[in-house]
Amino acid sequence: MPFSTGIAPPTKKTFEVSVYTAHTAVRRGAGSVALAEVLTSLRADGAREALAFIGDSYNAASIGLHRKLGFQHVGTLKDVGEKFGKMLDVIVMQRTLTFEKPAGEATKT
Ligand SMILES: CC(C)(COP(=O)(O)OP(=O)(O)OC[C@H]1O[C@@H](n2cnc3c(N)ncnc32)[C@H](O)[C@@H]1OP(=O)(O)O)[C@@H](O)C(=O)NCCC(=O)NCCS
Repeated sequence: MPFSTGIAPPTKKTFEVSVYTAHTAVRRGAGSVALAEVLTSLRADGAREALAFIGDSYNAASIGLHRKLGFQHVGTLKDVGEKFGKMLDVIVMQRTLTFEKPAGEATKT
């Protein structure tokens, strides 16, 4: 979805991405394929930056997936999420789409 800072209209160059895999299919490569396809499509549409907000600093799978697809950890929002009554950090990861593609990201023809 287009990202909004709250102080300006959503930009068409920066998008928030989010990928979910069925719990019966985790760690079989589906998340990598889905996220790579999203990045390829965003790049083809002229997007420049992709952001991921990962709702728990202990979410190793999501952090690992995004790192594998070239995202970098750019910040941690402290105690802004809540799950089952427990406050959670949100990890922010960013991928610049104008750089060289990482392995695994397809070339759109
Ligand atoms: C995060 C999620 C989408 C990953 O999907 P997936 O299909 O399991 O991911 P893949 O099999 O393509 O794995 C990609 C990489 O992620 C990392 N990874 C995946 N599962 C992991 C785990 N349980 N522990 C640590 N790293 C993990 C690895 O680096 C992996 O690469 P590798 O297998 O070559 O080592 C899936 O676990 C999920 O749906 N989680 C719940 C929802 C969620 O948190 N979504 C993200 C919202 S931003």
